[in-house]
Amino acid sequence: MPSNSNALESDSSLIKTITEKHRHQPGALLPVLHEIQASFGFIPKDAVKQIAEGLNLSRAEVHGVISFYHDFRYTAGPQARVCMGEACQSMGSAALLDRAKALLGDGVEPVYCIGNCACAPNIEVDHVYHGRVSPEVLDALLKKREAAA
Ligand code: FES
Repeated sequence: MPSNSNALESDSSLIKTITEKHRHQPGALLPVLHEIQASFGFIPKDAVKQIAEGLNLSRAEVHGVISFYHDFRYTAGPQARVCMGEACQSMGSAALLDRAKALLGDGVEPVYCIGNCACAPNIEVDHVYHGRVSPEVLDALLKKREAAA
């Protein structure tokens, strides 16, 4: 069984590989953060120092970008987001949010307009967007997700 320190070393190695891959690109920080988030599901807090050193930035600069962009996060993100923008609320998203919270608890968060108002109500499950979601479709999506886990 691998020890936790081995896992940390491999995490660090992956972060180094990603940072070096992009370091010569103009504006390398965003692609680095996107790739790290795609790999881990979040930005490990320990990665900030390593990214800053790898891109010759300050830790404050790296943290500032992570904090500014809603899609970057330091912890594993929610499994589902329910749009609570006006168009989606008018099509019943409040009930979807309640239903999703009942099924996933803290794994759900509201968002405010994901730019797909014409297909309201919208939800995102594991980074995949779904439009015109009924309560039955929501249940099916979350059950499918649970079965795949
Ligand atoms: S209000 Fe939900 S996508 Fe715009």
